[in-house]
Amino acid sequence: MKTLNVDLGQRSYPIYIGTDLLGQAELIKPCIAGKQVLVVSNETVAPLYLDKTLNALADFDHQHIILPDGEQYKTMDIVGRIFDHLLQQRFNRTATLVALGGGVIGDMTGFAAACYQRGVPFIQIPTTLLAQVDSSVGGKTGVNHPLGKNMIGAFHQPRCVIADTSTLNTLDDRQLSAGIAEVIKYGLIRDPEFFVWLENNIDKLMQRDSEALAYAIERSCINKAEVVAADEREGGQRALLNLGHTFGHAIETGSGYGVWLHGEAIASGMYMAADLSHRLGWLSADELRRIKSLLQKARLPVDAPLELSSQRFLELMAIDKKVLAGKLRLVLLQAIGQSIVTEDFEHNHLQAMLDEIPRIDSKSLAS
Ligand code: NAD
Ligand code: GLY
Repeated sequence: MKTLNVDLGQRSYPIYIGTDLLGQAELIKPCIAGKQVLVVSNETVAPLYLDKTLNALADFDHQHIILPDGEQYKTMDIVGRIFDHLLQQRFNRTATLVALGGGVIGDMTGFAAACYQRGVPFIQIPTTLLAQVDSSVGGKTGVNHPLGKNMIGAFHQPRCVIADTSTLNTLDDRQLSAGIAEVIKYGLIRDPEFFVWLENNIDKLMQRDSEALAYAIERSCINKAEVVAADEREGGQRALLNLGHTFGHAIETGSGYGVWLHGEAIASGMYMAADLSHRLGWLSADELRRIKSLLQKARLPVDAPLELSSQRFLELMAIDKKVLAGKLRLVLLQAIGQSIVTEDFEHNHLQAMLDEIPRIDSKSLAS
C-alpha cells in the first residue's frame, strides 16, 4: 500500500492506494470520530462492495443508503434523500458519512456532509479510476443544475481517501477510458515526463496491467495533492485542473447529463483546448498530433457532439465558473506539460476551432 498526504494544515489527510483495502478496519477507524456512520452508495456499487465496507465498520453504529446510479441523478433532489435518512434516523453532528462509489456518489456524499448540521466529517472510498485519480481528492463537492454542471456545491475535505485498486476489476472498459482522460490531464497541465510515460505505457493501462495502473493512480494523486495543497479554494493554479472542462461541461450539460461520460467530455474538451492553443501559435503541430494520438489510443473522443453548434457551445460556456466579469477564461496549453488560465486569446480563433472541430453522433460513444 502507498500512502500520500494532502497537506492542508489542520485539514490534512491521507490517501491510501493499494489492493484489497476495503475490508481493512484499521485504515478507516482512525478517520471516524463519533459512533454513527452512514455509508452512501448506489445500486451498481453496493451489491459489489457494500458488505466488505460494512465489515470494516463493525465497531460502529452503521447504516447505509442506496441511491440510483447515474450522472442524471446528481441533483439536489437526490441529495435530499441523504438528508431525509440522516434526520429520520436521528444522526447527530458527530456522525460520519462514507462515500462508496464513483465521482457522482463522492460529490453528492461530500456535499451532504458539508451541509448536514453545517458540516460533518466524511470519507471517500472511490471505486472508479476517475474517482481514484481525481474526484475523491481535493474537497470539491456538489451537484448539477439543469442550467450548468456542478454549479451548486461546497469545498469540504474528506478525512481520508481509501483507493482500493481491486475495485477497478469490475469497472467496464468505457469507464476505464473515462478515468484515463483525467490521468492524461495531469501530464498535459504540469507533468511532461508523466505524459511521455503515458505515451509509452498506454497499451499496458488499457490492458489493466496492475503495476502500470497503480503507478498512474499514484502519480495522478501526487499531482492533484500538490495543486490542492497550494491553492485549496481555486484562487489561482487549481483552475489548471480544469483543462478541457469549459468545453467538457458544455458538452455534458448540452447533450444531457450521462449521455457523454464526464471523462469522455473532458477528453474532447482537452483536445479542443489543445487545438485552440495550436491555432494561437502556442502548441506545435507535433504536440497536437501527440495529444490526439494518446487520447485515441485510450479510446477517447476528440470530436464534439453533433447536437452542439458553435453558438450553443458559446452560450453554455458563458455559464462556466471561471467566467469573471462576463469574460470567458480558458485553460490553454503553451506546451505539453505547461498550461495557463487566460482570457487573453483571439476570439476569432475560438470561433474557428468551434466551427471546424469535427462532430460525432453522441450515440456512437455507447457502442
Ligand atoms: P460515476 O460515479 O457515474 O461512475 C461511473 C459508473 O461506474 C457508474 O455507473 C457507477 O455506478 C459505476 N461504478 C463505480 N464503481 C464501479 C466498480 N468498481 N465496478 C463497476 N461499476 C462501478 O462516474 P465517475 O466517472 O466516477 O465520476 C464522474 C463524476 O465525478 C462527475 O459528476 C464529475 O463532475 C465528478 N468529478 C468531480 C471532481 C471533483 O473534484 N469533485 C473531479 C472530477 C470529476
Ligand atoms: N477536478 C478539478 C478540481 O478538483 O479542482
